[in-house]
Amino acid sequence: EKIVLAYSGGLDTSVILPWLKETYGYDVVCYAAELGQGDELKGIQKKAMATGAVSCYVDDLRQEFVENFVWPLVKSGAVYENGYLLGTSIARPLIAQKQVEIAQKEGAVAVAHGATGKGNDQVRFELTFMSLDPSLKIIAPWKDPNFKLTSREAAIDYAKKHKIPIEQTKKKIYSRDRNLWHISHEGADLENPWNEPQDNLFVMSRPVSKAPAKPDYVEIDFEQGIPVKLNGKAMDGVKIIETLNEIGGLHGVGQVDLVENRLVGMKSRGVYETPGGTILMTAHEALETLCLDRETYHYKKQIALKYAQIVYNGQWFCPIREALDAFIDSTQKTVTGTVRVKLFKGRATAAGVKSPYSLYSEEIASFEMGAEYDQMDAIGFIRLFGLPMKVNGIVNRKTSKK
Ligand code: ARG
Ligand code: SIN
Repeated sequence: EKIVLAYSGGLDTSVILPWLKETYGYDVVCYAAELGQGDELKGIQKKAMATGAVSCYVDDLRQEFVENFVWPLVKSGAVYENGYLLGTSIARPLIAQKQVEIAQKEGAVAVAHGATGKGNDQVRFELTFMSLDPSLKIIAPWKDPNFKLTSREAAIDYAKKHKIPIEQTKKKIYSRDRNLWHISHEGADLENPWNEPQDNLFVMSRPVSKAPAKPDYVEIDFEQGIPVKLNGKAMDGVKIIETLNEIGGLHGVGQVDLVENRLVGMKSRGVYETPGGTILMTAHEALETLCLDRETYHYKKQIALKYAQIVYNGQWFCPIREALDAFIDSTQKTVTGTVRVKLFKGRATAAGVKSPYSLYSEEIASFEMGAEYDQMDAIGFIRLFGLPMKVNGIVNRKTSKK
């Protein structure tokens, strides 16, 4: 019988592969998704086969990742707990979805992942498996009583005994997850929130102290909430994000240090780098301030909070996400225009914004008298708007005199 394992080539999934074979007798099909994690995938197919896989799929999912996952996220404006741009959360459902597709194609009976029993990732993988193919058995070695390789030392010894190719270092290292959108860092010295992230932690961006003394500007064009051009040039999404990662990274943009609430109840400390994503979210937000009417804009802010929870909690394939997307897409019809973003010393700031759908009227807002706005109207407006407060004031005065 076959099992499809989400495989990264790192230590954990490298020992899980032979362990699945040894413990349950499965033929292990490896699945590796290219999501823009740098050179992690180099030689991964060879490695999987050398580790005992019956086959190994490596799929370039970058375009699908951007178009079907990242763009909806940008349109939603979702941010988890005031800072996390959801880079890991948004990628897991796609990987798990593909695993299910491969499992069905290969006639596999089970799927497996290497996430621990303490984190969010296990939830994201398993909720996706459950909703897309409830008939698949889920094997999560870290939660399996037969799995004794949860310490780094044990895993390395096991790898050596089984002649599994790994990069071996027994010292404490960061748990990292990288893709096109971000990199996350957890563990090691970061586990103590009193410890400041060290300059050498950063992978996608420079430490802010080493950022250039002069700002750079980028111009992003959006069409119905989706980034379509960079500096006036039409570009596909992958290229836009890659390019913004470069320049944003140079300026130390998008570094976030957070103690966050995991779904499973514990707090954890994470440091994130999302240079391009921060620029895009900032630009998109600025455009919305121009293009959305007040009621829609305010309501959408509530939706963004909910959307962030749904994504963080791994509920991507829950019907509510589609329903929220329908609302969000309806709001994005007029979110078309251009934003100029200034990158300087770790910050991305909208420095200019324009749109053919702009609801901002210089004429109305101007301090000179405009035709559409009669200041006399404000007299009656305030009289009625303030009426409840006035009544309250009258009653308070009466009762406090007693
Ligand atoms: N705390 C973040 C999240 O829950 C990042 C998780 C990183 N995962 C990892 N396997 N290193 O989305
Ligand atoms: C893990 O526990 O596998 C990584 C961290 C997380 O999922 O939150």
